Amino acid sequence: MSKKLWGGRFSKATDKTVEAYTESISFDSRLIEHDIRGSIAHAKMLGKCGIIPEADAKKIVSGLGFILDDYLAGKIVFDPSAEDVHMNVEKLLFEKIGEPAGKLHTARSRNDQVCTDIRLFLKAEITRILGLTENLQTAIIEQAEANANVILPGYTHLQHAQPVLLGHHLMAYFWMLERDKGRMLDCMNRLDVLALGSGALAGTTFPIDRQFVADDLGFASISENSMDSVADRDFVAEFLAAAAIIMVHLSRWAEEIIIWNTSEFKFIDLDDSVTTGSSIMPQKKNPDVAELVRGKSARVIGDLMTLLTLQKGLPLAYNRDLQEDKEPLFDAVDTVQMSLDVFALMLATAKFNAARMHASAGEAYSTATDLADHLVRAGVPFRTAHSEVGLLVAYCVDNNKEFSDLTIQEIKRFAPEAADTVASELTVEASVAARSAVGGTALSEVRRQIEKAKQVLGDG
Ligand code: ARG
Repeated sequence: MSKKLWGGRFSKATDKTVEAYTESISFDSRLIEHDIRGSIAHAKMLGKCGIIPEADAKKIVSGLGFILDDYLAGKIVFDPSAEDVHMNVEKLLFEKIGEPAGKLHTARSRNDQVCTDIRLFLKAEITRILGLTENLQTAIIEQAEANANVILPGYTHLQHAQPVLLGHHLMAYFWMLERDKGRMLDCMNRLDVLALGSGALAGTTFPIDRQFVADDLGFASISENSMDSVADRDFVAEFLAAAAIIMVHLSRWAEEIIIWNTSEFKFIDLDDSVTTGSSIMPQKKNPDVAELVRGKSARVIGDLMTLLTLQKGLPLAYNRDLQEDKEPLFDAVDTVQMSLDVFALMLATAKFNAARMHASAGEAYSTATDLADHLVRAGVPFRTAHSEVGLLVAYCVDNNKEFSDLTIQEIKRFAPEAADTVASELTVEASVAARSAVGGTALSEVRRQIEKAKQVLGDG
């Protein structure tokens, strides 16, 4: 005779191999606080609506409170034969309060319970992610301000393109992260819906009060369709998409830091506290944090793929496949949170090599566009100016010269319309200062965006 809570129609015990294969308590125990919160709201509602006696509802609520206390005190040992967190809690409740525990699962199914748990879990974890993202954004602003006048090469194709301020470069990531937060908030608003009350799939025969449960749990609204509620994990996929995009942002930034940290670039010096050594090469100080951020982005992208693939062939409504949503979700939550946290630390403690960046910014004809723009202001059509400057660059390459080595006569040989004072417009400082249109790299514009960024964070 089976001892399972659902064991009535079974004449044989579950095979141990099957039990081990189907259990989820080894990972979904992580949802226990949300599960208990949901059960407390449900029990209160059952009592209030007269679906179970008020006295039993009270016993259930206080018993669940004790289980939570026990859990937080590390006193609970979960039972894999009770399958998942929902059944484990019910079993523990029976041990605490006896027979009234059996009334908790009235007008409810694990199917509407589990997606309620995940929604509560995600609301809490997204809030944490938003806070960690803001910490990183604060570190960006601090470094952008501390290095306000540092000029480095801006790249396209990883080739010198035009000089930019380091603050401008860093602030680019601020705005990416701001959109990442927007995606997380969108996700949070869309998942802020009560699923409980949907039953196994078709709703319930009992006169439940879903609004009461939604209010108690802090959900903004109630789901409209019981089958949709228990079947769909689009909100998990949406969260993972937003999480994967955060990781991709961090990963490309990590790649940049790894390049900047090479002895070829020497643009950045990472603090000893965020780097690691080599077991064989005594001289090494490796940017492992940045490499692991880049590496861990693969996991989160994989987590998203898992959720999409998991759902693509599922008929309505609930299918046990959906139990496989949790590990990728937990993995992504942990990975994104740790990555944001460690990245903020790495950035806040980094030292930028202003002299090296400045020297590099002036190389490789990075102010060629400024010369072309100068000629345009003298009336030359841009395409002609482009071609004149191109020929001048070819001359420099052939003669192993930088722009700063040129005499005005050499410049005028290729660009006769150039003013005698043009050299002063071809410094990296002049190049940066000239880009003062909104969103450009001029110091005034970088200062403006930093002010705007501070407002954005303040409003949040
Ligand atoms: N552990 C399951 C899950 O995570 C619980 C949901 C319902 N289980 C069931 N057999 N109907 O999806």
